Amino acid sequence: MRVLFVSSEVHPLAKTGGLADVSEALPKALRAHDVDVRLLMPAYPQAKDRLMAQGAPIALKNVLGFDDVALIPGLLPGSELPIWLIDCPLLYDRPGRLYCDPDGQEWHDNALRYALLSHVVARLARGLTPLAWRPDIVHANDWHTGIIPALLDADTAPRPAVVFTIHNMAYQGNFPAACLDFIGLSSRLYHPDGVEFHNRVSFLKAGVRYADRITTVSPTYASEILSPDFGHGLEGVARQRQNDLVGILNGADYGLWDPVNDRHLIERYDRHYISGKKICKAALLTELGLPAMGNAPLIAFNSRLVEQKMADVVLEAVPAMVAAGGQFALLGEGDRRFESAFADLARRYPESISVRIGYDEPAAHRLLAGADILLAPARFEPCGLTQLYAMRYGTVPIVRRTGGLADTVVDATPETLHAGAATGLSFHDISAAALGEAARRAIELFGQPLLWRRLQVAGMQADFSWERSARRYLDLYRSLRPESQLRRVARGRTPDDDDSYGGRVVNSR
Ligand code: ADP
Ligand code: GLC
Repeated sequence: MRVLFVSSEVHPLAKTGGLADVSEALPKALRAHDVDVRLLMPAYPQAKDRLMAQGAPIALKNVLGFDDVALIPGLLPGSELPIWLIDCPLLYDRPGRLYCDPDGQEWHDNALRYALLSHVVARLARGLTPLAWRPDIVHANDWHTGIIPALLDADTAPRPAVVFTIHNMAYQGNFPAACLDFIGLSSRLYHPDGVEFHNRVSFLKAGVRYADRITTVSPTYASEILSPDFGHGLEGVARQRQNDLVGILNGADYGLWDPVNDRHLIERYDRHYISGKKICKAALLTELGLPAMGNAPLIAFNSRLVEQKMADVVLEAVPAMVAAGGQFALLGEGDRRFESAFADLARRYPESISVRIGYDEPAAHRLLAGADILLAPARFEPCGLTQLYAMRYGTVPIVRRTGGLADTVVDATPETLHAGAATGLSFHDISAAALGEAARRAIELFGQPLLWRRLQVAGMQADFSWERSARRYLDLYRSLRPESQLRRVARGRTPDDDDSYGGRVVNSR
């Protein structure tokens, strides 16, 4: 089984959020099942710097009019996973964040940047590169890769099946219709049943519409996106594809996110030695410049500062948490208005609040280990990884009951606590009052060491390793392989009749 896993970000080469974590961990888990999985992503400068390059770049001629395109082969650092970086300096070799310029504005040519990625994948899938390797399955992720199945759908010749995973329905890659002139997608696909969405070209819609199978990252989110509240306008298309849509819960990579072997921690610990966590907390308070305040719980927020994550509501709720005796530490970046409002809050409560604006992976590990409680609220959450990591670190998560948060955290009630099943606290309403009430319950439990320990241990024992989910992806890939063979036969070709593989392109829909 050969799988080409395509993502716009892969840890540790480039990361803005959970997509990068999944794009490292799932391929690793698949490889453990003997899948020949290879990764492909853009050659952003930091990715080029960190890659363990292996061999000479492979030049590709004229991709969307660009002649300086090449595949740089290498290994993902810390693994045996082969990866190709698509080098196209004009599009990817830029300062700033992956998707935005240094001023925080989206790159004006994102449609082109990710169309080029998609065309390179389509070439590879059709065997139209100098590489001997061709995938059976293309696993594409999020809007950046959404037009891949649309490009391949036009083929009459056999092609790999495409699995498209939605990590977030809110990021859609919608661009002016004029982009059709330069993204190499047939204008015949520009209609409401194709890639058109409110007079724009939608990369995400293309993925949902044309992929052979669609997955998303938790069972609850898979059903939520069928409704207007969560579908962001694409709920109708999702409903049309409902029979091909499945929710497979993300996992946590415990090779990287487990206090027992976390190289970023001053002291390593596990559930048999939870007191090691106290050493991490003391070191963290010193690092953050917060005084040790007796037995005050340290409440952390490690998140993109955006409305999805209820950053506005957290801002409103934090003063009450501090008044109730808590300390608060934030590590995050995002909308400028939230960044400056949190910075103001820290100035108002220097003894109790630490705010660090920026992106810092080792600091995220230290924060999760040293904190007592993690705030992980969200208006919607496809899966969410920080609550999974927090549980393994004995840091009790407070989540809103939605998406993957609802699927992974068991709310502490007298019954669940008694049964040793509770792993966190959850609330429903999107309000500072509801979040504050959950925080109040958490702080009260924190004051009862036996109950708190039970909550911590249940979370630390919970197993969200990738093993089970990787198996489900594997079953999905296997279910598709015979079908792609059938497609060949149905189109008048035998599986061996490979002469025109990928050569001709006609519009089949
Ligand atoms: P999302 O992908 O929606 O942002 P997830 O919970 O799935 O949410 O994944 C977030 C990932 O990004 C986690 O690995 C988290 O530690 C990391 N992260 C978020 N913000 C920061 C930051 N400012 N510094 C370091 N890591 C961060
Ligand atoms: C997205 C989602 C998040 C999910 C991550 C990885 O960024 O917002 O919920 O955990 O992708 O799938």
